[in-house]
Amino acid sequence: MKPKVILTHPMPEEWIAPLQREVDLIVGPAGVAGVDESLKPHFPEVEGLFTWLTDRVDEDLLSQMPRLKVVSNLAVGVDNIDLEACTRHGVAVGHTPGVLTEAVADLTFALLLAVARGIFSAAEDARSGRWGLWEAARWLGYELNGSTLGIFGMGKIGQAVARRGKAFGMHIIYTSRSPKPQAEAELGARRVPWETLLEESDFLSLHTPITPETRGIVDAAALKRMKPTAILINMARGAVVQTNALVEALQKGWIAGAGLDVTDPEPLPPDHPLYKLPNCLITPHIGSATHTTRRRMTELAIANLLAGLRGEPLPHCANPEVYTRQ
Ligand code: DGY
Repeated sequence: MKPKVILTHPMPEEWIAPLQREVDLIVGPAGVAGVDESLKPHFPEVEGLFTWLTDRVDEDLLSQMPRLKVVSNLAVGVDNIDLEACTRHGVAVGHTPGVLTEAVADLTFALLLAVARGIFSAAEDARSGRWGLWEAARWLGYELNGSTLGIFGMGKIGQAVARRGKAFGMHIIYTSRSPKPQAEAELGARRVPWETLLEESDFLSLHTPITPETRGIVDAAALKRMKPTAILINMARGAVVQTNALVEALQKGWIAGAGLDVTDPEPLPPDHPLYKLPNCLITPHIGSATHTTRRRMTELAIANLLAGLRGEPLPHCANPEVYTRQ
C-alpha cells in the first residue's frame, strides 16, 4: 500500500506527478490559509505532510497525526512550523534552501530600484495624463552607484544581494550572526554592528530569518536612526518590521521609502495605510515566484518528502536533531 500524504493546497499537475506516482495523495482546498478542516478524516493515517508557508504546523496538529514521519515545507523559511514539537514527535521537517537564492535576490533589486527611482508613481503619472512637460526637478530619485547597501542577514540570499549591489557600484556593509570572510574578500563587504547598519545604509535590505531576536527589531527607534533619505527593503518576514512604526516613519519622513515583499499581517487589509503611501511599494510575497524557482522548490520538497517516508535523512532538513533525539 502506498503511504498517505496530504498536500495542503492544489499545485500544477505536472509539478506533482512524480509524487503522485509514489504516494496516495490527498490534496486540500485552494484559497484557504492553513491545513483545512476538511482533511481531518485523513489525519490518523497520514505519513507525510506537504505544506505551504501559510500552513501552521503545531503540537495540536501533530498530536492528531500519530503516523506522521515528515513535513515538507515549500519554502526555505520554516517559521510556520513548530520545529521543537516536530522533533518531539520524531517528525523530520524539510525545507528548500539554495534553489530560490537568485530569484529572491532579483526581486530585492527590482523593489530597490523601483522605490529608489519612484518608478511606480512616475509610471502612474504618465499613464494617467499627469506627464505634461519634461521637468528638471520632478520625479527625482536616488542613485545606487556610490551608495551604501546595508544587508541584515548575510546568508545565501544576503550574499546574492550583495553581489548585485557590488555590480551596481554600491559599498556593502552587513550585520549577521557570523562573519562572512568570502563576501568580505570578494565584495569588500564590511561587518558592522546593527546600530551602524541603521545609521550608514542608504538602502537597508532585510534577509534574516524570523527569531525571537529579530522579531520587531525594525521598530520606531531603529527607523528614527536611519537616514531620512534611506530606503528599507523587507524580503525576510513581515514581522521583522513593526508595521505601525513603518507607517509613521514613511508618513513623517524618518526614511524616504520602503519596498516590501512581506508584511505583518500578511496579506495587509486592502485599506491599509501602507497602500496609500506613494513611497511604499508592496508585492505579495513573490520573492521566489519564477517559473524555474517554484518548480525547483517543488522538486526539492518532493525529494525531502520521499526521503522522509522511506525513513532516510532528508536532503534539506530544518530539524536535524530529530535524528539524534533519545
Ligand atoms: C521562503 O521560501 O521562505 C520564501 O519566503 C518564499 O519563497
